[in-house]
Amino acid sequence: MRFRVLPLCLVGALGLAACADFQRGAPPAAGEPEPAAGDDGGPGPGATVFAGAVHDTLLQGCQSCHAAGQAASNTAWLLTGDVEADYLATLPFIDESAPLQSRLLAKASGRGHAGGGVFPADSAELDLLIQWIVDGAMP
Ligand code: HEC
Repeated sequence: MRFRVLPLCLVGALGLAACADFQRGAPPAAGEPEPAAGDDGGPGPGATVFAGAVHDTLLQGCQSCHAAGQAASNTAWLLTGDVEADYLATLPFIDESAPLQSRLLAKASGRGHAGGGVFPADSAELDLLIQWIVDGAMP
C-alpha cells in the first residue's frame, strides 16, 4: 500500500524535493535485503523505462524544435528518433539524486525555456517523465 503515496507526491510536486525520498517505489518485502542507495540493478517490475512511452512523448512534444534544422537545433539536446541515441542525449539533463530538479522537467514545464511550457505541471506527460526519472532513468 505504501506505493500509493507516490502519485500524491508527484501531483504538482515539482520543486518539492521533500517527496523524493519516497519515490523509489515499493519497499522491499520483509526478509529481502534493502537495496543499496543508488542501486543500479536494472529496472524493477513495472519500472518506467525510456524506450516506448517516454521516448514517444518526447518525440511528440519536443522534436518539432529539438532536431537538426529546427528552432532548438543549436542546443545540446537533439532528438533523432533513434531510441538509443535519444536516451544518451537526454541523460545529461537528468538529475537522479534530485529527480524533480532535473533540467529536462524544468524545460518541459516551461521554467527558463525558450520553447515554453510544453507539458504543464499537472499533465500526464510530465508525470510520466517524472516517473521515469524517479525509477532511475533506465533505457
Ligand atoms: C517551440 C520550440 C521548442 C519546443 C517545442 C521545445 N523546446 Fe526545448 N528549447 C527550445 C529552445 C529555443 C531552447 C534553447 C533556449 C533555452 O534553453 O530555453 C531549448 C532548450 C531546451 C533544453 C536545454 C538544452 C541545452 O543545450 O541546454 C532542454 C533540456 C529542453 N529545451 C527540453 C525540452 C523538452 C523536454 C521539450 C518537450 C517537452 C522541449 N524542450 C520542447 C525550443 C523548444
